[in-house]
Amino acid sequence: MTETILANALLVLPGETLHGQIRLMDGKITDISPGAAVPAGAVDCAGDLVMPGLIELHTDNLERHIEPRPKVNWPHAAAIIAHDAELASVGITTVFDALRVGSVVSNAKANYGEYARALADEILGLRATGALRISHFLHLRAEVCSETLIDELDKFGPSDRIGIVSLMDHTPGERQFRDISQLQKYVCGKHGISPDEFEDHIAAQKALTARLGTAHEAAAVAAARRYGAVLASHDDTEAGHVARSAEHGAHFAEFPTTVEAARACHVHGIKVMMGAPNLIRGGSHSGNVAAQALAEADLLDIVSSDYVPSSLLSAALMLGDIWGDLARGVATVTAAPANAAGLMDRGHVTIGARADIIRVTRINGAGAVRGVWVQGNRVA
Ligand SMILES: [Fe+2]
Repeated sequence: MTETILANALLVLPGETLHGQIRLMDGKITDISPGAAVPAGAVDCAGDLVMPGLIELHTDNLERHIEPRPKVNWPHAAAIIAHDAELASVGITTVFDALRVGSVVSNAKANYGEYARALADEILGLRATGALRISHFLHLRAEVCSETLIDELDKFGPSDRIGIVSLMDHTPGERQFRDISQLQKYVCGKHGISPDEFEDHIAAQKALTARLGTAHEAAAVAAARRYGAVLASHDDTEAGHVARSAEHGAHFAEFPTTVEAARACHVHGIKVMMGAPNLIRGGSHSGNVAAQALAEADLLDIVSSDYVPSSLLSAALMLGDIWGDLARGVATVTAAPANAAGLMDRGHVTIGARADIIRVTRINGAGAVRGVWVQGNRVA
């Protein structure tokens, strides 16, 4: 395989930056050296940032490609390929595609049907044919407030590249939906439900969790172990939620909704993940704690692009500015998510690491991706 040399770059290394060059060969980083020299055959990066490819642990971006308008079902292979290309173009080189398991099949109006197993087959099938540019893993979002969670979990196994199982509880009145009026806005907006139907919906969902919640939680924790996946919690609101997820062995917490919960995560050694859109918009769209407040309190470890893929790079640069430490900002979207998901071969520019690398320039503060390499091959 030919060697790629990226020279005259500001390299973002673990804990520091260095003006120099890196060499990529046989899928790995083989050399890092300082200086402004541009050897024959090298790419002259003209001072641009060269950093690890970004690692995304929780994105539902694929849904946007599969259903580009409400009730429009796009052909899945085309949607997956476009999603993959979009992520590559914004510097993401490893993604955990988030798929919900746990459906509500008895309520046709709410339309939370089963889809994860079939879509997983399509993603993994395309990956096997070499059609995808970046590295894909699966993230199963296990919904406790559902009817079919155990059945759906049973359809997956250790060969399905499931890197993460997150334990979600969207029971009305709990966590993200502690404020029922926020839930009403969300559910009625999304599914066209009348206020009377909403009351029935709330009662039915609460009854479901009362009946099955405990068994579902135990099944999701056991399934993560069976798949060899790491466990994450979701929407922790109180210290008690965090204590419970610590008992389950969670590695990281997705979108804790309060400072209290984020602080409790750190007490238990659980990493805190927040959404990049929250950081960039200056607050949560559902009224929860602002990511920037957690960053300023040193309670933010990992950033996820959530529903806007391009926000991942912007958030890393913004955090670098907030903290006055570019390498630390970049680590929230590279080394920190890699470590939380147990991927030790990537997320850092070090000799011997996977050659997943991006070249970035800043234009009026915004990050623009100028080149993306996965295992040393240019993909965008
Ligand atoms: Fe949530």
